[in-house]
Amino acid sequence: MKLTAEKLQANWVEFNTNIETHITGDRKQKLLDFYKKFEDRIILMPASHKKEYHSAFPGGYVDHVNRVVKAALSMSAVWEGFGCDITTFTQEELVFSAINHDLGKMGDEEHESYIPQTDQWRRDKLGEEYMHNKKIAFAAVPDRGLFLLQSHGIQYTFNEMLAIQTHDGLYDSANEKYLKAFMPEQKPRTSLPFILHQADMMAARIEFEIEWLPKFSKNSVATPKKNYTLNSNIKSSKAKALNSMSSPGLKNMLDSL
Ligand SMILES: [Fe+2]
Repeated sequence: MKLTAEKLQANWVEFNTNIETHITGDRKQKLLDFYKKFEDRIILMPASHKKEYHSAFPGGYVDHVNRVVKAALSMSAVWEGFGCDITTFTQEELVFSAINHDLGKMGDEEHESYIPQTDQWRRDKLGEEYMHNKKIAFAAVPDRGLFLLQSHGIQYTFNEMLAIQTHDGLYDSANEKYLKAFMPEQKPRTSLPFILHQADMMAARIEFEIEWLPKFSKNSVATPKKNYTLNSNIKSSKAKALNSMSSPGLKNMLDSL
């Protein structure tokens, strides 16, 4: 899967617009500054290292996060419609958690988590387009994401901490302590973690459908969705996107796509 330069740029605008629209207080500017600082890396990040997972291509991360934000807002309305008390969390907490739920995939200040796979066999046989960067000490994605936020002075609420920490639901056994409790007093006091998890899972599943189901059609001819096709005007749209970007580093990376 390859996103056009125009799509990459549109996704980045949407990402920042979500912050502008939903985040308040002094952390709004801190969050915008944080993402501005790392934009060259984040715009081109994949959402995972392995193509069998989801969105393991340049720009897959922002594409995924934007979809999770949209899905979280919709999912919240569904839960409310079924009688969920959505006053146990704010819309800002919902969107903040969605925007930052996978931030730990970024890596640390100096190094990216995912770097291009150098082992051709692993690329071909295991579908690993990327590999983990050994320069970074191991940390679970939610832990690293929360660490990055706090180390840049971006405060988060208890609800946001819990939602980001448990966004993988019970796919991550580390979350059992929060999600598998039997005592009522040990269960989360808000449905926010469940709503975010469902939004994340739905987004990842839909990304799988967009990328992979066309490849399984009887003719085995991929018919990707319109947004993801490289259109015939790719050169002109790429040039247009490049012209509107101020960062030289980002321009170089986009130019090499
Ligand atoms: Fe995710």
